[in-house]
Amino acid sequence: MTRVRGTGDLRMLDGVERGRRVQILVDGEAVEAYEGECLAAALLASGRRATRWTTRTGEPRGYFCGMGICHDCLVRVEGHGNVRACMTAVSGGLRVERQRDMVERRIDA
Ligand code: FES
Repeated sequence: MTRVRGTGDLRMLDGVERGRRVQILVDGEAVEAYEGECLAAALLASGRRATRWTTRTGEPRGYFCGMGICHDCLVRVEGHGNVRACMTAVSGGLRVERQRDMVERRIDA
């Protein structure tokens, strides 16, 4: 039976092989992650459900489709904005910022 760690880390423990344990920096805070896991999983496991906030309304967005289609999981990685967290593999020392200041492209009819 699969079990979930109870204190903060939401990852499944049994039956999962992981890469090396590493630290990444999320909004300036050290977060434990595993090399090769997807960044969205690392953020969720650390309790960070929102990856960005919309410019117009300030509503939070986060992991939704998990396959690179919806673009709701956009983050800034190593200073580059609009990176899909669900399509990005974790590596040690990765610097990640959840997006609060990206201007959404306005589509006028
Ligand atoms: S969750 Fe949809 S693109 Fe990442």
